[in-house]
Amino acid sequence: MAKNKVLVTGGCGYIGSHTIVDLIDNGFDVVSVDNLGNSYESVMDQIEAITGRKIQNYAIDLCNLEDTKQIFEDHPDIGGVIHFAALKSVGESVNQPLRYFKNNLNSLLNILECCRDYGANSFIFSSSCSVYGNAKELPVTEETLFEEAESPYARTKQIGEKITMDFAVNNPQVSSIMLRYFNPAGAHESNLIGEQPKQIALNLVPVITETASGLRDHMMVFGDDYDTRDGSCVRDYIHVMDIANAHTKAIQYLFAEKNDKNYEVFNLGIGEGVSVFEAINAFEKVTGESLNYKVAPRREGDVIAIYANNDKAKHKLGWNPNRGIEDIMKTAWDWQVKQNTLAKS
Ligand code: NAD
Ligand code: WQD
Repeated sequence: MAKNKVLVTGGCGYIGSHTIVDLIDNGFDVVSVDNLGNSYESVMDQIEAITGRKIQNYAIDLCNLEDTKQIFEDHPDIGGVIHFAALKSVGESVNQPLRYFKNNLNSLLNILECCRDYGANSFIFSSSCSVYGNAKELPVTEETLFEEAESPYARTKQIGEKITMDFAVNNPQVSSIMLRYFNPAGAHESNLIGEQPKQIALNLVPVITETASGLRDHMMVFGDDYDTRDGSCVRDYIHVMDIANAHTKAIQYLFAEKNDKNYEVFNLGIGEGVSVFEAINAFEKVTGESLNYKVAPRREGDVIAIYANNDKAKHKLGWNPNRGIEDIMKTAWDWQVKQNTLAKS
């Protein structure tokens, strides 16, 4: 049996849903699992509107091993798993560390066990630039050493990578890729899917669009006295569709057995630093809106600056991220305006 179906965990979530669209666009057969803790199953209707394909979602918790096994029993042709499902709020993880460790690590253990037992031999793990902590050198490469994790969430990603690495040593038939995302933002160009969390948005780009649309009276710029070119923090904002496409490239790479090791790591950033003030300027430029912001004290736990060296993903996966901060702001804004219109109707 050809095992070419891809199981996307967290498929109703932000990056998972965009990745499903890109996988379908590239001819993959997909099944999703998402317990809807931070998402809505209606996103599957939107994916159908974009692609013409109706994707099945299992609304189960991956921390339940028996329920997770059932997906593989039902779909013996699953050959690859892209594991997005996780809790991802940095602040919440500080207040609920055990919940974060239980959810993010038990779900990973169960899914790896299923990969081993059901012959799904390609595995992709959603990691994060937060594994680097306060990196000592910029840009960070995949070889840059991990510093102390700044939160329990970040620690789940550091430990998740180590678990997958130990699993790879013991299970050479399963090849794994860790994708370390920098700051994903923006929405699909169709404006049919975007970021739609159940939790309050705290990341910069949705805070900007919510403020400009009047959902917030004003926003805060956390710190203007850092040792950066304009005093605000620097990040590597990467369009969600570029992130999505990296997963397609990674699964194609593994299915074609182009990997020379059964455990590899790739940074996914655009490779450039953008400051908070530069992000605000880009938003104002592409939308014509003016943003009501105030400078506030530094936010606890923020790293000063981080951006990626993305050469490895470009060269080995053939990944070519081609959307910049203005594309991010334009698509995020279109999505925000649409959400507000829907909320009023
Ligand atoms: P998201 O919250 O939109 O999507 C994650 C999905 O997983 C949600 O729909 C949630 O309901 C589901 N889920 C969580 N635990 C589950 C469980 N036990 N069983 C079944 N479903 C479960 O988040 P996202 O932004 O799409 O992030 C996807 C992945 O990328 C996560 O692993 C996250 O840590 C990682 N990541 C995200 C960012 C970012 O800024 N968005 C950056 C770096 C890494
Ligand atoms: C970006 C910049 C803020 C909000 C987080 C996670 C990280 C990864 C990506 C998952 C910072 C500033 C923000 C606001 C502001 N996620 N800011 N006002 O903190 O780089 O990374 O998302 O893995 O783990 O920590 O992203 O979007 O919160 O902040 O000034 O209202 O915008 O200080 O400099 P961050 P962010």
